[in-house]
Amino acid sequence: MGIVTSTEMFKNAYAGGYAIGAFNVNNMEIIQGITEAAAEVHAPLILQVSAGARKYAKHVYLMKLIEAAIEDTGLPICVHLDHGESFEVCKSCIDGGFTSVMIDGSKHSFEENITLTKQVVEYAHGMGVVVEGELGRLAGIEDNINVSAEDSSYTRPEEVEEFVTKTGVDSLAIAIGTSHGAFKFKPGQKPQLRFDILAEVEKRLPGFPIVLHGASSVIPKYVDIINANGGHMPDAIGIPEDMLRQAARMAVCKINIDSDLRLAMTAGIRQHFTEHPEHFDPRQYLAPGRDNIKELVKDKLVNVLGCDGKA
Ligand code: G3H
Ligand code: 13P
Ligand code: ZN
Repeated sequence: MGIVTSTEMFKNAYAGGYAIGAFNVNNMEIIQGITEAAAEVHAPLILQVSAGARKYAKHVYLMKLIEAAIEDTGLPICVHLDHGESFEVCKSCIDGGFTSVMIDGSKHSFEENITLTKQVVEYAHGMGVVVEGELGRLAGIEDNINVSAEDSSYTRPEEVEEFVTKTGVDSLAIAIGTSHGAFKFKPGQKPQLRFDILAEVEKRLPGFPIVLHGASSVIPKYVDIINANGGHMPDAIGIPEDMLRQAARMAVCKINIDSDLRLAMTAGIRQHFTEHPEHFDPRQYLAPGRDNIKELVKDKLVNVLGCDGKA
């Protein structure tokens, strides 16, 4: 199948009531863990790269590693820029072979967000690349920018038709109470998402693919392993899996997961060093991190997103 856009994936996911997993990648082990899991269960994939990932690993390394994974697995994979903050960074990713970009204008005014997003859409569509926009603002940490709960805001459903029509975006990320990072809800707080907003958006944009950021569940198993092996993850609480299943049955076609990958990899490495403090060969401790990512992703694809067998 090779490198693809998300157009076909989203059409099928919307009709089938499931979602595509969009996983953040930063190095070879993460890419291998994710793509080997998807290959085993025949799931289409979105691999997404943040500005921080491009800075850490360099665009060309990540692109070549993803190309290698496509050759190795034969899977349809969409390569996506996560949280592009300017026209320039989107253009650079489009020119560098990505098939999808997000222009995250959520920190701008509604009008400025439209102008910026439209500019990216015009360039991207001319190159056969699809674009994700965002309305509403998630709390949490991304690219070292910490958006406080007070500065976050839910998507206003009455704005979505105008935004989509004026910009021409192919998918829309909305804010319904998820947030970035491992600390989404306070201790004792009951996780809640505004499914009423999602339902209203769905009604106003029938058939249009919606994206959910900040969707890690912060799997307790991995938090416990980290804490049992010298780590310190106080009161990490994520999005309950049942809520993700509900979103996937609705208009949500893309579910973004990064923090769960970080936790799974760190748990594997910490546990390995507890059991083998004498090891110093990176292959010995990175392999269990990669194995944990593979196990986690397989579980997400089959038991949460429902996209297994859809590749
Ligand atoms: O939404 C943010 C993603 O988790 C990427 O995080 O910017 O630290 O790579 P990063
Ligand atoms: P998490 O921090 O919940 O994994 O969210 C990742 C994300 O939204 C990437 O864009
Ligand atoms: Zn995000």
